[in-house]
Amino acid sequence: MSGGAVAEAAPVKKEMAIEISELIKSYGGFRALNGVNIDIQRGEIHSLVGQNGAGKSTLLGILSGRTAPSEGSVRIFGSELHYGDPRSSRKLGVATIYQELTIAPNLSALENVFLGQLLSVKGFISRKRMTKRYMELCALMGVNISPLQRAGNMSIADQQMLEIMRGLQLDAGILILDEPTASLAPPERKSLLKTIKTLQAGGITIIYVSHHLDEVLELSDSVTILRNGEKIVTQPRAYWTKDKLVSSMLGAEVAEEIVRVTQETRHEDAAPGPELLRATGVTVPGAIEDIAITLHAGEIVGIGGLVGSGRTTLVRALAGLEPKSTGSLWIEGKQVKWPREPGYPMSLGIALAPEDRKHQGLVLGMSCEDNINMVNFSQVKKLGFYRKAKAGHIADGLSKRFGLTRPIHTLCRNLSGGNQQKVLLAKVCNLRPKVLIVDEPTRGIDIGVKVEVLKILRQLANEGMAIVIISSELEEVIAVSNRVLVLSKGRLVKELSQRSEISVDHILQATF
Ligand SMILES: Nc1ncnc2c1ncn2[C@@H]1O[C@H](COP(=O)(O)OP(=O)(O)OP(=O)(O)O)[C@@H](O)[C@H]1O
Ligand SMILES: [Mg+2]
Repeated sequence: MSGGAVAEAAPVKKEMAIEISELIKSYGGFRALNGVNIDIQRGEIHSLVGQNGAGKSTLLGILSGRTAPSEGSVRIFGSELHYGDPRSSRKLGVATIYQELTIAPNLSALENVFLGQLLSVKGFISRKRMTKRYMELCALMGVNISPLQRAGNMSIADQQMLEIMRGLQLDAGILILDEPTASLAPPERKSLLKTIKTLQAGGITIIYVSHHLDEVLELSDSVTILRNGEKIVTQPRAYWTKDKLVSSMLGAEVAEEIVRVTQETRHEDAAPGPELLRATGVTVPGAIEDIAITLHAGEIVGIGGLVGSGRTTLVRALAGLEPKSTGSLWIEGKQVKWPREPGYPMSLGIALAPEDRKHQGLVLGMSCEDNINMVNFSQVKKLGFYRKAKAGHIADGLSKRFGLTRPIHTLCRNLSGGNQQKVLLAKVCNLRPKVLIVDEPTRGIDIGVKVEVLKILRQLANEGMAIVIISSELEEVIAVSNRVLVLSKGRLVKELSQRSEISVDHILQATF
């Protein structure tokens, strides 16, 4: 393990794993971090909590050596970190797990763990040494994953375990996790939290970023709140409650507003409007089979089920993104050709905000404004001229509605994760579809804006859209849905249509 041994005679003073002092990060005139000081003790789980754009990922980027700060310093186990050099940070024992997985699907579990860092004996690559180390890592994490299994066949949760094993391979003393549970289903989240605790028991210091405040409370020894690039406070776990976290990250008034709005988003049962979409026999070989779904104006339909149950495949098929899919489709009662190419469903009025916003949803090299308007150039073009003012006006209105915290000319690449999600939602709403499908719409969005997003979905439904929502947050699905369809292993196993039936218990019961 990195760092010096603790002097036995020094009783009270705890050893610091990380000392961050007066850290500033400027992007042009904008300060993503503004004079941050944090001390993190060896062996603790320290969480960073804050709204979208608060500066969490920026701070982690500096610790991992990816980003160079403008001013200030960081010491890791007493040694000064050399900025902007990921190797320096690794040498000091920092392993960083980013939200996007970097697993190579065609390689085995073992090969993935040692990707780019093969172990050798006397200059020869040693499979035996790697297998031994692999088994040690499995034991350290309390997991059991066959080294020979092809990574592409593994669940996202197991792939993430590999990612952590790869990070810990070189005796890391500090593990940094940026929203690691964002794409996991509830049971998988639980097991990841258990693994994190096991690692801590093995002496590893952990820095944890998550918008799931329950997880933060369950795991942390201490919590630091960031707001607008500044540290608001660091306190030990005993100090915190969920309410305190919320009011500290948002300010007390906003926190009260949220409670009010949450109550408003709960809807009453209402008679559904006319049928907008009906699909039958929806099949994608190897993924989903013979699913039927009907959507009416004014309703929100939730799709329940575990990760891997076929939820995303079903909505991708409706959006023309599954070339091997088959089925029959009616739009407003009229049968139309089954969609197998993406542009065509859009012309029928079906829009999808995909779960993978980076690869499918947004053009990262373009501004927020252009991303929002690119779906709908006809609105902002007149006699062949692009109407800049009109485009700006539309983009501005939509991004304000979704709580974007940066100016609309910002490149999407330079937005925080949560802000990118808001631009994606603004973009699909700008299409003004009849049927709006949102897959994990609040992933990575802070609690302040989450409620706002649900409220907007409810408004859009009230204005006559049909909305389909997939979310790993069952509470969210329950709060907004008029009906819930539960999928399991690619089949529709249950439809819950009475308000009283729609509950976490019923959904989970139907799933298992
Ligand atoms: N390369 C960059 N150029 C300009 N601004 C940037 C760049 N990288 C980050 N920023 C800005 O710095 C601020 C902090 O972003 P950061 O990604 O650290 O937020 P975050 O706390 O991780 O938020 P989230 O919860 O949404 O992930 C944001 O306003 C972001 O737009
Ligand atoms: Mg972030």
